[in-house]
Amino acid sequence: MTTPVNISLEVNGERVEAPVLPRLHLADFLREDLQLTGTHVGCEHGVCGACTVRVNGEIVRSCLMLAVQAHGASVETIEGLSDSDEIADLQAAFRDRNALQCGFCTPGMLFAAQDWLRQHSAPDRERIREHLSGNYCRCTGYQAIIDAIETTARSRMGETP
Ligand code: FES
Ligand code: FES
Repeated sequence: MTTPVNISLEVNGERVEAPVLPRLHLADFLREDLQLTGTHVGCEHGVCGACTVRVNGEIVRSCLMLAVQAHGASVETIEGLSDSDEIADLQAAFRDRNALQCGFCTPGMLFAAQDWLRQHSAPDRERIREHLSGNYCRCTGYQAIIDAIETTARSRMGETP
């Protein structure tokens, strides 16, 4: 099918209306049509987590979702999440703990980490590891990422890091 379909959705709080091909993935729509290149594309088959965004408040792999499936939805990319300051403390912890190197995995890691932090208060390294097990990082060895999330969890609980 090569006829474009008109979709209407909210992206980072702004209404977007666009014609898209039915087989266009959400990741490609965000990156190529909207120039929101903070959404990274690695494996393109749902394994690495680099393309993670939030759709209607839930984290999803945008390489596994078609743009037409986002019609009527509210999509948040790392650009919107970052601009909202929702994860300012988490980003600072990533910087302080050296939890990123090349940064390719980082947008997806931050979404997965914030998802965990929104659902849990007590920091539990094993559970954090489990929650992030679908996000690959080729640089850090993961330890520093877990440290950063644990630090953020403690600080959100009112503990001094
Ligand atoms: S690019 Fe989507 S999970 Fe790897
Ligand atoms: S920081 Fe390079 S892949 Fe994670």
